[in-house]
Amino acid sequence: MTIIAVDGPAASGKGTIARALARHYGLPCLDTGLLYRAVGLSVLKAGGDPDHEADALAACDFDAPLLDDPALRSEAVGSLASRVSVHPGVRQALVQRQRDFATQPGGAILDGRDIGTVIAPDADAKIFVTASVHVRARRRYDDALAHGGHPDMDSLIADIQARDTRDMSRDHAPLRMADGADLLDTSDLTIEAAIRQAIALVDAQLEGRR
Ligand code: CDP
Ligand code: CDP
Repeated sequence: MTIIAVDGPAASGKGTIARALARHYGLPCLDTGLLYRAVGLSVLKAGGDPDHEADALAACDFDAPLLDDPALRSEAVGSLASRVSVHPGVRQALVQRQRDFATQPGGAILDGRDIGTVIAPDADAKIFVTASVHVRARRRYDDALAHGGHPDMDSLIADIQARDTRDMSRDHAPLRMADGADLLDTSDLTIEAAIRQAIALVDAQLEGRR
């Protein structure tokens, strides 16, 4: 069984890298951020307050089809996800689902914020993906333009900084580099180069474990 943990802040490229690693190693992949996004969106739909733990907890048994809702991908829902994910009860409600996915026969790749620290601290390989705030905001800007949106660079930078601060400073499972993780800064890397480097880092960690 091979478990690979990929963590990092918003738009660092961790999802792209996790999916490429999944193809390379023939493993299933889970974007754990989608679970928190689904909780955030269902609080909104229920007219609840994302900062209120009881409202956020009530949204944790969302219907599975919500995970395919394109609305989950917006930066607004990313911010909601970041607000509901502060509550320890919400994190606890989503832990087992993530651990079950990680420990399926053969193993898995998960990307998120706390995979290497909390969900799978004994993962066989851990990568912490990062990039400068400006590069990350620029990626979100380009994505929004490509999807016909009218993004504003200054508000994207402000949203990403606010999310970074909240994710790094919360009491439960804050975003930080896990023990044993390798850092991969994608600021100046093409997607192809980032994927090549990620595979090399994972190969070296798996080799070191043998
Ligand atoms: O794709 P992006 O990095 O923008 O966000 P995401 O991975 O979909 O995560 C959305 C929010 O969910 C994050 O800002 C975190 O607050 C929260 N999250 C978390 O707390 N733990 C995880 N394992 C994954 C996401
Ligand atoms: O999962 P996360 O929010 O960390 O990022 P992502 O969804 O993998 O990547 C965000 C955007 O940046 C996507 O449009 C990627 O194609 C792009 N990207 C990039 O331009 N260069 C990289 N080295 C990685 C991702």
